[in-house]
Amino acid sequence: MNRREAETRAAELRSRIAHHRKRYYVDDDPEISDGEYDRLERELGEIEARYPDLQAPDSPSLRVGGEPAEGFESFRHRTPQLSLDNAYGEEELEAWQTRLLKVVDDAAATFMVEPKIDGLSISVHYRNGVLERGVTRGDGEVGEEVTSNVRTIRSIPLRLTRPLPFVEVRGEVFMPRSSFDELNRARADAGEAPFANPRNAAAGSVRLLDPRITASRKLDCFFYTLAEIDGEALPQRHHEQLALMKELGFRINPRNELCSDLDGVRDYVRRLEPDRHALGYEIDGAVIKVDELELRERAGFTSKFPRWAIAFKFPAEQATTVVQDIAVQVGRTGALTPVALLEPVPVAGTTVSRATLHNEEEVARKDVRVGDTVLIEKAGEIIPQVIKVIESKRPADAVAFAMPDACPECGAPAVKEEDEVARRCSNSPIACPGQRKEAILHFASRAGMDVEGLGDALVEQLIKAELVRDPADLFVLEEEPLAALERMGKKSAANLLAQLELAKARPLHRLLFGLGIRHVGVRSARLLASAFRSVEALSAAGEETLVEQPEIGPKTAAAVSAYFAEPVHRDLIERLRKAGVSLEDEGEAEPAPSSEGPLSGKVVVITGTLDGLSRSDAKKRLEQAGARVTGSVSKKTDLLVAGESPGSKLDKARDLGVEVVDTAGLEALLAAD
Ligand code: IVH
Repeated sequence: MNRREAETRAAELRSRIAHHRKRYYVDDDPEISDGEYDRLERELGEIEARYPDLQAPDSPSLRVGGEPAEGFESFRHRTPQLSLDNAYGEEELEAWQTRLLKVVDDAAATFMVEPKIDGLSISVHYRNGVLERGVTRGDGEVGEEVTSNVRTIRSIPLRLTRPLPFVEVRGEVFMPRSSFDELNRARADAGEAPFANPRNAAAGSVRLLDPRITASRKLDCFFYTLAEIDGEALPQRHHEQLALMKELGFRINPRNELCSDLDGVRDYVRRLEPDRHALGYEIDGAVIKVDELELRERAGFTSKFPRWAIAFKFPAEQATTVVQDIAVQVGRTGALTPVALLEPVPVAGTTVSRATLHNEEEVARKDVRVGDTVLIEKAGEIIPQVIKVIESKRPADAVAFAMPDACPECGAPAVKEEDEVARRCSNSPIACPGQRKEAILHFASRAGMDVEGLGDALVEQLIKAELVRDPADLFVLEEEPLAALERMGKKSAANLLAQLELAKARPLHRLLFGLGIRHVGVRSARLLASAFRSVEALSAAGEETLVEQPEIGPKTAAAVSAYFAEPVHRDLIERLRKAGVSLEDEGEAEPAPSSEGPLSGKVVVITGTLDGLSRSDAKKRLEQAGARVTGSVSKKTDLLVAGESPGSKLDKARDLGVEVVDTAGLEALLAAD
């Protein structure tokens, strides 16, 4: 390729890259795969490396970050970057509107409502359509020039779709949850201190002197203010400004909505809050802005804030408190989980007094000690987490934690198997009271024997009253003692007994899953049931026979054979038989699960981090249930499985009306007959 040809090709590549960048980041509707897009950028980079004079100021090769800087230059904003007054709760929101109406004697204001992204605000300038400068907010008057770092953020355009003489926009740079988790994992592996939250991580990344590191941090940006435009009239309504910004190539939040009155605003914030953990990035509320510029002018400012906008804040989800003790809980599989017992503290509307510490490695990594002050977070349904220790507040007598080497419930040795992080109680689930409750709940669960009405509180009572020690005891329960339990009564007791009667005839795979044999999930229970057809045949099969079965690995084979070798388990099975529980499948053999599964023919997309299930395992199991798993959401998608931090796929699925389930919903679908 000679220089002339290179120049032509570079121009063509630039315009194609600009087009696809907009399709991806702004329109959220890519036409090509990520790989194809990367190839375009790479080809342009190669041409520019050969002919450096062809490198333009808007070259995507600049996204990788240039040489480190010595420090940042200060830059005085052309107009001050304001901040907002806050409203905590709907009452304060109403008070804001009342104040507004006093100065703007016009009830016809409409409101633009936008998610309040928890990142750092930034101002970006474009001259003749090309990115010229990026400036942090700073104190609102003077910020720092961070242009080289801003260039590395792919959702910020390097060139606008039109070469307007001058444009200034403002927006929020943030770190998506998934990038944040990935970054903190990498930092932990490297022995570096993790960031406390995505906002700190984003702010730290934008202010790094080495833009190559910023480039590796996977930042993102939504724009929300058109501060200045030259060469075109400024639209007189905020929503029109946002539309113009989008047209110019800026990423605008798809959750923004125009509301005709305060009822609409209330409805919006009520809908937004429950979704906050599914967005894939942190928000701490919503920003409400008067849409009409003319009304904004009339409303004006207080000494500190614009009167025409307010930040509606959701309750804080982080708090600091003191670790009073570290307890150890025993789960269904015997796994010991350290739990921080906290001085009770209000977080996001409830009082938190416990937080999981996951496992001993995690306690050691975070170095949590009894007496420490810790930062905790409660995100959505998830159990509160200890984010970090505030080391400056550590008392001299703080006590380091040591995992016990015996089960705290039954005293049996707690052992750690190779390649596992959890230490486990080595006792059988029946002999250890800690495992008992969880084991019975698992037995009765939807994917197991599906006993309706047998919930957490009832199982706890049954164990306490010594009516039930293991699953077989359920089937010899009598009405009278049952009816005497708290919140039970005669009718509920009779209902439960009827449900248990029904459960006796459940297919074998449900029983096998319900027994809680290690490594036997829904899928392997089905495979084992269809291969052996009875508990008797299965328990007689040796490890060698088991491992010969399709899809049964050595771990599962060993666990199954070890399970049936235990006298307590043989006794359990015998008592189940005596109680009339079916231990075999009758009639025609059920075919092994195949493409004829419960999701046969369905097109499924997975997004976000699934709870306790790796993405590849989820994919495998979906495929085994007959589904086809694809990468992007389209009209053809039947189902979206959304874990934590699901990102834009969830928005798209919602827009298209695609059914969405979480990890528990997925388990239920996979367990369906
Ligand atoms: S508008 C005068 N819109 O919240 C209006 N701000 O507390 C200025 N923020 O400094 C801001 N999302 O960093 C606006 N959709 C949004 C926002 C937003 C997040 C941040 C921004 C601002 C702070 C105000």
